[in-house]
Amino acid sequence: MTSDTAFNDRTLSLGLARVAEQAALACADLIGRGDEKAADQAAVNAMRDQLNMLSIKGVVVIGEGERDEAPMLFIGEEVGTGQGPGVDIALDPLEGTTLTAKAMPNALTVIAMAPRGTLLHAPDTYMDKLAIGPGYPENVVSLAMSPRERVEALAKARGCRPSEITVCVLERPRHQEMIAELRETGAAVYLITDGDVAGVIHCAESERTGIDMYMGTGGAPEGVLAASALKCMGGQMWGRLVFRNDDERARAQKAGITDFDRVYSRDEMVTSDVIFAATGVTDGSIVKGVQRRPGFVETETVLMRSRTGSVRRMIYRSKRD
Ligand code: FBP
Repeated sequence: MTSDTAFNDRTLSLGLARVAEQAALACADLIGRGDEKAADQAAVNAMRDQLNMLSIKGVVVIGEGERDEAPMLFIGEEVGTGQGPGVDIALDPLEGTTLTAKAMPNALTVIAMAPRGTLLHAPDTYMDKLAIGPGYPENVVSLAMSPRERVEALAKARGCRPSEITVCVLERPRHQEMIAELRETGAAVYLITDGDVAGVIHCAESERTGIDMYMGTGGAPEGVLAASALKCMGGQMWGRLVFRNDDERARAQKAGITDFDRVYSRDEMVTSDVIFAATGVTDGSIVKGVQRRPGFVETETVLMRSRTGSVRRMIYRSKRD
């Protein structure tokens, strides 16, 4: 790789923040309007336009879906000016379409970028996820443990009682048993209705959010995005793909996955340096949502680089008539 095509994460990161910011601004008028599709489409259009301004040879590896079902930002779409480093892009233009449509907290625009060939090409299936923040011994919890064992092991490592542990879980019927088992340990269960990228990020900032661990099944693409964020912030994460039918297994095969039972660690989902940006659409515990005020709009973006472990919170303000 020559120096002008190297993955210059320092320079590229500001461009990535712009992509996330503009996507959030584009869907802000659709907050609370009950139209998930329109909100998502606005974010997709803006994200794509902004990405195509970046000096990269980018390929979308986690995107809006397969080419035949998503006309824009589909898996395999080439983005950027075509000049610059070859990069993999994982994105979710609007993580929390329902949250946005209902004006509920923690909707984000999310994007990660890494050198070509270094992000897991996760198919559009589910993933069983487990995440904790930084500062714990390696593999202190695992997907092989029961929910109870995970709480007990984490409490022991933290030197506290299980009742002092808070676990974030997506509120879904499929998680009922897990939630009951977690509550039996005395742990608090912090339920979210959507948005498990934010759910995982919460663990990396437990002093701010009060959340120690994330577990449960959610989208596999979101798993790779969450692993990118944790790689920057510190913390451990594991994911195992979950298939509901042969179509999903075929999607995985198409994405190059052969071992269907494999447990991926954070660094197996993201094998090199990565940069990650997320902008708040609605107010949340990680960043504020888009603020529309007379004369100006403001966004807050969290921008991170794994190489340095830097996490920036950036306020962007722009005048509007
Ligand atoms: P959308 O933004 O596409 O609506 O996804 C939100 C989300 O909650 C993700 O954060 C999560 O991984 C996934 O949906 C869970 O899927 P399901 O709603 O099928 O349980």
